[in-house]
Amino acid sequence: MTSVRKLFAFLKPYRRWAILAPLFMLIEVSMDLTQPYMIERIVDDGVSKLNLPYVLQAGGIMIVLALIGAIGGSGCTVFAVWAAMGTGADIRAAVFRKVQAFSFGNLDRFGTGQLITRLTNDVQQIQDAVQALLRIMVRAPFLMIGALIMAIITAPQLAIIPLVLMVLVLSGLILIIGRAYPMFNQVQARIDDMNTVMQENLAGVRVVKAFVRAPYEMRRFEIANNNLMNQIINVARIVTITFPMMMILMNFGVVAVLWFGGIQVIQKHMEIGQIIAFTNYLATTLFSLMMVSMLVLQMSRAAASADRIEQVLDSTSDIKDRPNANREFNPRGLVAFEHVTFSYNGSDSDPVLKDITFTAKPGQTVALLGSTGAGKSSLVHLIPRFYDVTAGRVTIDGVDVRDVAQTALRRNIGVALQEAVLFSGSVRDNIRYGRPEASDDEVVTAARIAQAHDFITALPDGYDTMLGQRGVNLSGGQKQRLAIARAVLLRPAILILDDSTSSVDVETETRIQDALGDLIRERTCFVIAQRISTVLKADKILVIDDGVVAAEGTHAELLDTSPIYRDIYDSQLGSGGAAHG
Ligand code: UTP
Ligand code: MG
Repeated sequence: MTSVRKLFAFLKPYRRWAILAPLFMLIEVSMDLTQPYMIERIVDDGVSKLNLPYVLQAGGIMIVLALIGAIGGSGCTVFAVWAAMGTGADIRAAVFRKVQAFSFGNLDRFGTGQLITRLTNDVQQIQDAVQALLRIMVRAPFLMIGALIMAIITAPQLAIIPLVLMVLVLSGLILIIGRAYPMFNQVQARIDDMNTVMQENLAGVRVVKAFVRAPYEMRRFEIANNNLMNQIINVARIVTITFPMMMILMNFGVVAVLWFGGIQVIQKHMEIGQIIAFTNYLATTLFSLMMVSMLVLQMSRAAASADRIEQVLDSTSDIKDRPNANREFNPRGLVAFEHVTFSYNGSDSDPVLKDITFTAKPGQTVALLGSTGAGKSSLVHLIPRFYDVTAGRVTIDGVDVRDVAQTALRRNIGVALQEAVLFSGSVRDNIRYGRPEASDDEVVTAARIAQAHDFITALPDGYDTMLGQRGVNLSGGQKQRLAIARAVLLRPAILILDDSTSSVDVETETRIQDALGDLIRERTCFVIAQRISTVLKADKILVIDDGVVAAEGTHAELLDTSPIYRDIYDSQLGSGGAAHG
């Protein structure tokens, strides 16, 4: 419940509406409370005494009071909606902002499906709860207590009836809520599961189709979907007995009122109008109590969601800027790994990189070659601090990357990640993603270097062609080339190309390398490849094998000294392979 209190901070900017809403509700409640009294007057003073003018006059007053009440009620709803929607929007923004600050490690832990649920459904729960709270918080208790007092004033002889009923109802509600609260957390967790299946399926729908796994995916979804349904039904089963329970108690109450009240009327201690008003007040009391209980239920569901949102807001990025981090970092690009060991889950799991030491100088192209899963991507991810080293250190121009502010650090590093992800938008916007202010000339130059200019100009709208989500309307190699152009456009001190030409033919790859030549003359360039043809001209080749540097040198040196390199060379280019370089 502490998280609920924390989230209430988000209501602060809207406190004007949050205060006005209950105030307007007070108007409606007071008007509502007068209605049974007016009926009593009409029956006992008007109808019973056949006084028509009194009936008309009192009826007129009733209508006016009802109108005032309606204004109060609508005002309350409007203000409550403003406050709730504003709060919801702010929480969503805060969660989104937090996710932007997440490290790769944080993102690995939460997973996309969960983050989507928290950003949508969980915020929705809170939004609904705030709205309900602002409308019912005042209405229900005031109506309940007001109606109870009015009932007692109307017929003190019958006061025991509502009091007994309320004790019964309250004990029932406490039992129900106590059982329902833990179940709401489960509901949200099931929504997480369903979103994860759905999100994975949609992102990988082509793979699903290619491997004819739709039936399997259907089953997976069905399971998640049914689990969610069953969990909601479980909660509902408990919650739904509230209403019938209330109705039974209420009817008992009415019978009791008519029974004891009837006796009083016969003995001339009470009038009929009093009984009508009393029954009315009794119903109002119990209905308000039910509203309070529904509100409490809704609040407990919102509390579960609030916990989940707090988990996101409270999780600190494991990659943080140090207090005195360098914000004006303009290195030349001398990258050094000093005895770097790295594992994805801290020091307690097997390291994927072990005691890596090497340097890459400005002007040098360092190629990382190695079989799949060897640790090449993991290695270069340490340079822009996507992850932090477990031991040892990575320095640029002698400065530990952990001493540089992340934005300052990453401004100097252009990365084309292994999986080329494009955004919906124009080709031009995708290329200048890292530097939106880049001129059209710069965009074209970058595209030319990446050998993308020709195919871009052949697109229907050239550089203004809109790409679908994730660039679905481009080939794999075309996407890769846009990703290269995007990294090149930054003109960074350090350029990292992670398997960026794996889907590009060897000839185009050579042209990209030649074009890069000018650009990288004073820069440090990392090229990851599985194809040996990609690395032939590199100034330094690191052969990565199972997380260690197995060999280091130029192509010629390695051919002589490294059996692993020799093997790779022979298998790809040697005997019978397409001779190259
Ligand atoms: P890498 O992703 O560094 O390998 O994973 P790689 O050399 O680049 O491989 P290719 O050529 O792209 O295929 C190295 C090890 O780290 C683990 C992987 O299981 C692999 O064994 N790993 C990778 C993680 O545990 N978590 C990750 O997020 C990524
Ligand atoms: Mg990789």
